[in-house]
Amino acid sequence: MKMQPAISTVNLTKRFGGVIATDGVDLSVSSGEIRCIIGPNGAGKSTLFALLCGIHAPDGGEILLGGRDVTRLPAFRRVRLGLGLTFQTNRAYHNLTIAQNLEIARRRNSARVDSDALRRYQHAIGLFELDQLTDLPARALPHHQLQWLEIAMVLAGGPDVILLDEPTAGMSPEETMQTASVLRTLNGMGLTIVVVEHDIAFVREIAHRVTVLHEGRIFAEGSVAEITAHEDVRNIYLGRA
Ligand SMILES: Nc1ncnc2c1ncn2[C@@H]1O[C@H](COP(=O)(O)OP(=O)(O)OP(=O)(O)O)[C@@H](O)[C@H]1O
Ligand SMILES: [Mg+2]
Repeated sequence: MKMQPAISTVNLTKRFGGVIATDGVDLSVSSGEIRCIIGPNGAGKSTLFALLCGIHAPDGGEILLGGRDVTRLPAFRRVRLGLGLTFQTNRAYHNLTIAQNLEIARRRNSARVDSDALRRYQHAIGLFELDQLTDLPARALPHHQLQWLEIAMVLAGGPDVILLDEPTAGMSPEETMQTASVLRTLNGMGLTIVVVEHDIAFVREIAHRVTVLHEGRIFAEGSVAEITAHEDVRNIYLGRA
């Protein structure tokens, strides 16, 4: 029996006026996978995520979550089906405590939180070192830990698949590696992770497979070793392809 991909797209297309931000993308992420999506600025990474989440409606193509067509479902219905989003909707309230933020996230993203998802969430709170700080206002957290809180808020909704757009932006190399380690642990507990990331050290650390976007299309796909050895991939970053 063939496993359904956790999340996939068929010929997904999105235009903004004359710009084709997503151009016939066929993406397929297996259940249990960590997939990194890379590509130069303007390649369409964030647009692809916005389509997967339901923030934008595509002009064509399909989005499947666990084999189910969700193309026309609003974001909150996708969340209920187990998709975790880290967009503006999951921003922490800086004046509320960590415990209050997590509680709001838990109520707002009312996916059916099964026992695996609950274990992952509880484990993440410890790994992100938030468990001793629950009465602190979010604004008291250092930058990297505020980003960790936002990931924990997504996990509070009990997702099977999470989409992270540049989760390590602004972190030190050490904090970035710590983030990678936590995400690997959560992945080992059954969480499928799709992450847009510029930091190649981080990608090396976590990716099972890498998808390279360029001008809205899938330009290359493979293991980290294959992708980093790919001359055309290096050229698109240097603007030569
Ligand atoms: N809301 C929008 N309205 C108009 N054009 C948009 C919109 N969002 C994205 N675009 C355009 O679509 C293309 C893809 O943008 P997108 O933000 O998805 O790229 P990205 O790969 O996330 O880039 P970055 O690495 O800079 O975050 C760009 O040409 C961008 O200008
Ligand atoms: Mg982007």
